[in-house]
Amino acid sequence: MGFFLAQRPFEAHLAQAKRVLQDNWMGGYTRPAQGLYPHQWNWDSAFIAMGYANYLPRRARRELRHLFAAQWPDGMVPHIVFNPEQLGNYFPEPDFWQCPQGRHTSGITMPPLHAEACLHLHRLAHDLEDSRAFLAEMFPKLMAGHRYFYGARDPEREGLVYIRHPWESGRDNAPAWDAPLSAMDLERAQLPAYQRRDLDKGVDRHQRPTDRDYDRYVYLVDLFRRHAYDEAAIYQECPFLVQDVGFNSILQRDNRALQEIAGILRQDSGEIDEWLAQTSRAINSKLWSERFGRFESYDLRAGDFLDSPTAMNFMPLYAGVVDSAKSPLLYAQMNSVSFCGLRQGNCFAIPNYDMTASDYSEVNYWRGPVWLNINWMLAQGLEDYGYYFEAQILRKDILELVARFGHREYYDSHRGQGLGSKKFSWSAALFIDVLSGYYRQKDAEPGLLGIVQGSKLGRTRLLNHPEASRQGEGGEAAQAVQAAVADIAGAFFDPLKSLVNYQGIAQSPQYQRYRQAVDQLPRLDLAALDQGRGALGFWINLYNMLVIQGVIELGVKDSVAEVPDFFDRLAYQVGSHRFSLHDIYHGVLRGNQAPPRRLLPQFWPWDSRRRFCFARPDPRVHFALSCGTRSCAKVEYYRAADLEQQLDEVTAAFIISEVLVDPEENRVALAELFSWYQADFGGQEGVLRFAARFMPEDEHKRYLLANLDRVKVEYLFHDWHLNR
Ligand code: GLC
Repeated sequence: MGFFLAQRPFEAHLAQAKRVLQDNWMGGYTRPAQGLYPHQWNWDSAFIAMGYANYLPRRARRELRHLFAAQWPDGMVPHIVFNPEQLGNYFPEPDFWQCPQGRHTSGITMPPLHAEACLHLHRLAHDLEDSRAFLAEMFPKLMAGHRYFYGARDPEREGLVYIRHPWESGRDNAPAWDAPLSAMDLERAQLPAYQRRDLDKGVDRHQRPTDRDYDRYVYLVDLFRRHAYDEAAIYQECPFLVQDVGFNSILQRDNRALQEIAGILRQDSGEIDEWLAQTSRAINSKLWSERFGRFESYDLRAGDFLDSPTAMNFMPLYAGVVDSAKSPLLYAQMNSVSFCGLRQGNCFAIPNYDMTASDYSEVNYWRGPVWLNINWMLAQGLEDYGYYFEAQILRKDILELVARFGHREYYDSHRGQGLGSKKFSWSAALFIDVLSGYYRQKDAEPGLLGIVQGSKLGRTRLLNHPEASRQGEGGEAAQAVQAAVADIAGAFFDPLKSLVNYQGIAQSPQYQRYRQAVDQLPRLDLAALDQGRGALGFWINLYNMLVIQGVIELGVKDSVAEVPDFFDRLAYQVGSHRFSLHDIYHGVLRGNQAPPRRLLPQFWPWDSRRRFCFARPDPRVHFALSCGTRSCAKVEYYRAADLEQQLDEVTAAFIISEVLVDPEENRVALAELFSWYQADFGGQEGVLRFAARFMPEDEHKRYLLANLDRVKVEYLFHDWHLNR
């Protein structure tokens, strides 16, 4: 009957993610995706290795070895290593790059995360000796890579390296490059003939760079090959030279990893220490713009900052170079409407570009969508600065995006829909990494993500004070409670973001009035409350407020899961009975059913509260009872007069965001809540039929109804974080 979850949350998705990597494994490396990206890409391989590190460490090593086998003699790790058997599908290929000694690589580089990947592998390794041997093998190569940066790409010895092509940033058509690319004068330039190969691979043209951008990309490549990749000459002539804050922050983080590896191998780290000190200073001085009040990239050709509010400007957090005065500022910028706001209930992760900017696009590649690798790095940065909870939100969003919309290259930053390539390797790898991290954490301490455990002889904690209820008529108590809830809702519930301002409530006069009102509840004559709309609204409101009062009075910080048996212990005295949260939900409102993962109905046969149970439970209550978490129903105030309509609306709203039909994969992803309460809907098919009733008339609904018995059902992840 599935009372005890045999599977861990998301286990099916984990298997799928591993399949994506397996399908993209080319025998020596992992391609980013079929179609657009058949070769090995530099930073992709680092993210992919981080994923493999959790379950296939040997493959992670092969991935990294394959990339470094193509390292140039000067230490540069190329941005693409071409597979000779896959030529003809991509532009530009080796014939166009014309790299020295006929190398089968591109002639530019990418942000280095490979020391970080090696360290990640080492931290997760079971066989330490083996792992140390791999670190020893990689260390000189990693050092050579960083020496290349500080030698060739930092000619003025500033501690900042430059990139000389937008592709080197990893963010091909980011708005940041618009200004330096436009400043290039191609009017009189001889552009070699070329043909783009990215537009016939099934990705919408509007999500790709423009032809104008491509002309400039090609011009730069042509310039490099004309100079036979001589860096000093390129530095003199290249019209595109940027000290990118993202690139330098990632490099700095990799310096830190390298320093740690040196420590593990007992190697001298003097040179690395020097890089670390220089780059930290330089990011803070040269890449901090007082004018913009943020970190910004520096355009060496224009001799000025770029002006491009991207998520990369937060990357100094990942680098670990931000001082304690600035980190709250960066956090505030991140947690704003520009970047969606970490706490916004309906927003997935941090988009790559300021959503309020006039040239922001929610679907165009690097001009606005959400990218998982960027969020993975930002989560790390947030965590390092003590934003533990916020880091969890980003990581949870990574899981959510994949579970809902598949392993896509990037995601629409408004609706979350997957865009670009399908079965994209780093999305699968980072999903694996984040989920495996959760599993490890959960095994170590059943905490935040833990599922609220069943009752363990918990003592009831009564949150109203019957002895105080000396005055007033019992019959008025229900109305007084309703009126007090309405006041609180008006001032402190945010229906758009579906959040509750717990702190505001705690300090408000409305809350004082509410508490006085619930103190009157013991005088209520329960028998007089029928089972009509009035009673239904009353119980729903009471449940939702009991959760809120519980959160406030028990000082819940991040999740109700902090309090053992939260739902069993918190109770109000109503009439002459006590009702815990479970009593209200599973006893009264569900007509005496077993709570999730329990066998027996809430009220025992001799329990006199059974007479207050609804004889014909309304399944829409599941979408009205807000259990204090981000995945439960959003909290609202329910009025008897509008109850029908309100219940329909909240149900439809919940279903729109928590039931996702994917006809292509013949699957439907549902909120985990549906797995707990399947029986209330008449089994799995009943759930789907019920959901379809509330879905808009579109092809998803039609598909679902036509395939009720054969569609694959997967469950989304219940996020236990507080909906504050
Ligand atoms: C695109 C992306 C880049 C990525 C590559 C392969 O060029 O901009 O970041 O490495 O595709 O996935």
